[in-house]
Amino acid sequence: MNLTIQERGKIEQMKRMKIVSGMRPTGKMHLGHLHGALLNWKDLQEEYDCFYFIADWHALTSEYARPDIIRESTYDIILDWISVGLDPEVSTFFIQSEIKEHAELYLIFSMITPLPWLERNPTYKEQLNELSQKNIYTYGFLGYPVLQAADILMYKANGVPVGEDQAPHVELTREIARRFNHLYGDIFPVPKVLLTPTSKLLGIDRRKMSKSYGNAILLTDGDDEIDQKVDRMITDPQRARRSDPGDPNVCNVFSFHEIYSDQETTERIRRECPLAGIGCVDCKREMAAALKRGLEPIRAKRRELESDMDAVKDIMVEGNRRSRAIARETLAQVRDAVKI
Ligand code: TRP
Ligand code: SF4
Repeated sequence: MNLTIQERGKIEQMKRMKIVSGMRPTGKMHLGHLHGALLNWKDLQEEYDCFYFIADWHALTSEYARPDIIRESTYDIILDWISVGLDPEVSTFFIQSEIKEHAELYLIFSMITPLPWLERNPTYKEQLNELSQKNIYTYGFLGYPVLQAADILMYKANGVPVGEDQAPHVELTREIARRFNHLYGDIFPVPKVLLTPTSKLLGIDRRKMSKSYGNAILLTDGDDEIDQKVDRMITDPQRARRSDPGDPNVCNVFSFHEIYSDQETTERIRRECPLAGIGCVDCKREMAAALKRGLEPIRAKRRELESDMDAVKDIMVEGNRRSRAIARETLAQVRDAVKI
């Protein structure tokens, strides 16, 4: 490919743009994560300098009563990341709690974050309602977005890829960055929200795919689990009998076909289903086969990684080391700015 000097310069500049995003280790990853976040993270690697991390302190805000899950899912998630094509040679992975500087930056930001900014945060209010069975009426949970701001600004990110639910948190990060810069001088870029389109794939019960609903297809599910889950999937709810016509546009099984089946199959089902020319049982069987085929390379990579966990641990040691070096630099500037 022949690029002009200007084009090359532009690419170089974009390369230097930084991306930070994290995931809370509160369970295994599913297809919602894959199509809602990870494949987007993977693409971003081509253009940006990416930092992807395990937000274990954030996990503790809601899971403080069952910390085992955090330890267990941390490496589960890292294996999934690498299996789907996040590349530790290209991006930097780290574990939040390994970089203690995050805690110090969080503390300093907490001094300049007005309480009403946190109290009016829509995600906060929503979660208090949704997770009412857990007691998350805590200081730590209210401060969740302040810790998130520390994660992002520590690496002077220019962009933060997140789903819609997380956008208010990144807005808060932007406000904290502006306030800090206003008070102490220009240290932090004000990062942009890079909104990730939500995945079209619903859970097997047609609600949003979520581990807590028990309706998710996991990246670690084997053939039998996939077959059973696809079997139980709700199709077009209007189609009660085999002889009824169906509507692929409202059918979650069809959404899976659109991603995992070849175009010829997808087109055939789009044609046949409204004529009752194909039954849901057969349609699901075809989809399950395509899904298993599509996930096989991910699973193969995962098996390979699992057989050499020392190498995976080394990847994290190296990622933590690189991140820590940047964090130390940022903290030196911040301490200087706040004269402590
Ligand atoms: N709050 C995010 C979530 O629940 C996880 C997270 C923590 C994060 N720190 C971050 C995401 C910084 C992006 C940037 O999904
Ligand atoms: Fe959905 Fe396939 Fe049944 Fe049509 S035939 S309703 S697309 S599962």
